[in-house]
Order: sequence, then structure tokens, then C-alpha cells
Amino acid sequence: MTATTVGIGTSAADIEFHYDLGNEFYALWLDETRTYSAAVWDGIDPAEPHTTALPRAQRAKLDLHLDLAGAPRPGTGGTASTPSTGLRLLDVGCGWGGLLAHAVRTGRAAEATGLTLSRAQHAHVRSLGLPGVDVRLEGWDRHHPERPYDGIVSVGAFEHFATADLDAAGRLAAYRAYFERCHGWLRPGARMSLQTIAYDGVAGGDGPVGSFVAAEIFPGAVLPRLGEIVLASDPYFAVTTVRASAEDYARTLAAWSARLLRARAAAEELVGPDGYHRYRRYLRACEVTFLRGAATLYRIGFRRRDEPLRLPV
Ligand SMILES: C[S@@+](CC[C@H](N)C(=O)[O-])C[C@H]1O[C@@H](n2cnc3c(N)ncnc32)[C@H](O)[C@@H]1O
Repeated sequence: MTATTVGIGTSAADIEFHYDLGNEFYALWLDETRTYSAAVWDGIDPAEPHTTALPRAQRAKLDLHLDLAGAPRPGTGGTASTPSTGLRLLDVGCGWGGLLAHAVRTGRAAEATGLTLSRAQHAHVRSLGLPGVDVRLEGWDRHHPERPYDGIVSVGAFEHFATADLDAAGRLAAYRAYFERCHGWLRPGARMSLQTIAYDGVAGGDGPVGSFVAAEIFPGAVLPRLGEIVLASDPYFAVTTVRASAEDYARTLAAWSARLLRARAAAEELVGPDGYHRYRRYLRACEVTFLRGAATLYRIGFRRRDEPLRLPV
């Protein structure tokens, strides 16, 4: 099975439909880290206002992924496997660059490359002028780095790596092609992290909520199951950590909803009353999906296998 036998998942047009609604619109209800994925809420008091709680929870998420990717915390001096020149990091699906910015500003990475399919995100990250950061308007299937990376993170992008028309074997091939590429890009012994929404109930059985989100918000996105991720990665990576938290996403969605509500006038100026209501419905519908347990969120740590395994499936 090779990376060239599969499609690349959500098309660039569908990505633009969602993400290129406008950087200003998303800035209204995302927090200052500009991350558009579930935060880590451990130890954050439910009574703390989301104005301070959400950025703290988002930074905790960014640090967790950098930990899983093997980036030393500032002041810890790193480990024997940390390169003396500083960590070289890849962020697959970098969004508006929150993780890239955090990684280089805190010194957890010396160099960081981000991939996105969204023109608006690409322009935004470039405009930040982050030292050591290279952002590319490029899908993972087109990425050919000149040198190996020391760590990879991917947060909230895996949902775009397959398409609804693929059957189970096709999805496995698509996901496996991704892990094969990551294996090829990483130096021996390197670590990788992945955060993704996944089905926790009956796959595809998400009823009217899923149909609304698929048709009006996120065309072309498909959720994996945990078993598919493990099976797809197994030849190339050993799993080091699996952490499930539907609650983390429900709480993040509730914080985004509250912020969008407060920014209603500005949001309606940018996307019109229909756009505003569509996004309010989407955020609430997704929150309910997580609270009811139809979907969950996984954060998975991986260690690169030196030699890929030959497995029967
Ligand atoms: C939900 S956003 C998450 C962004 C960011 N990681 C965060 O947590 O804020 C998904 C990102 O994945 C990117 N993406 C989707 N498919 C991709 C692909 N095939 N290759 C690279 N990036 C992709 C999108 O352009 C977008 O930046």
C-alpha cells in the first residue's frame, strides 16, 4: 500500500468553504491563541470567566501536544534525544498558527513548519512574521521536507484526511498513507501527537445533527474510529498515550458559543444574520453530540518505529 494510491481527503474547495469565511469572523469567538480545536480543561475552575479560562485551557492543550511530540519544556534542558540545535517541528493542519507561535515563542521549537489548505489561514500566519516559522499552503500528501523533523503534531485536521465515499478499506488506506508519510519525515526515535474527533457511538449514525454539520458547516469531513487510527498507524508507530475527553470538547464549544453570542452584532456585520445563526446552531449541536456520547475526542501520542512492521492487515 503506498501513499499514491489514495485521495487526500477533504478537497481544498471544501476547506475554503469553512475556513475562509473570514479571519475576522473566527477571531471574534476564538480566543487569543486562535486555536480552533478542543482545549485541555484539567484543573480549570468552572466558575472562572471564559475570557481568561479559555486561553489558559488552550495553552495547556498546546503544551500537551508539544510534550507528546517530544519538545522539551522551557528550562528543563531537554532529554538525551533532544537535538542540540533545537527542535524541528511539523504541524499538519496548522490553522491560524497558534501552536507554531507558542512553540517558537516559548523556545520549545527552534524551527516549525505548518501546513494548511486554507488561503486565509496561510496569509494570516505569514503576516505574523514568526521567526523560524515556515507556513505552507500545502496538503500533507504534497509535503516533501528537505530534512527530517524531530517531532510532528496534528490537531483537529485528521477529520479531513478521508472522504465519505470511501469504504472501510479505503479509509484505512487513506489513514495509513498519512502515517507512512509521517514515518518517512521523522528522524529515528522521534515522537508524534494527534488530536481528533472520533465516533464513539455507531459510526455514521449521527442523525440530523451530523447531516446539518456535513451539509452546512463542514462539507467533506469524515470522523474516524479509534480502532481505525490504531490499525492504520500500527506498522509505523507505537502508541504511547491515548486520552479520551468528550467533555473537553463540550466545554470548549460552550465557551465559543458564549463568545459568539457576546459578539453577535460584529458577527452579523461580517457574515450576516443567517451566518451568525448557522454558527450558533453548529456550535450548540456539536456540544450536544459530545455530551450525549455520539462522538468523542482523542489525544494520541506515538513513537516512531525504527523499522515498519509487516502486518497481515
Ligand atoms: C480545525 S482546523 C485546526 C487548526 C489548528 N490545528 C488548531 O488546532 O487550531 C483544521 C486544519 O487542518 C487543515 N487541513 C485539512 N486537511 C489538510 C490536509 N490534507 N493537509 C494539511 N492540512 C489540512 C486545514 O487547512 C486547517 O488548517
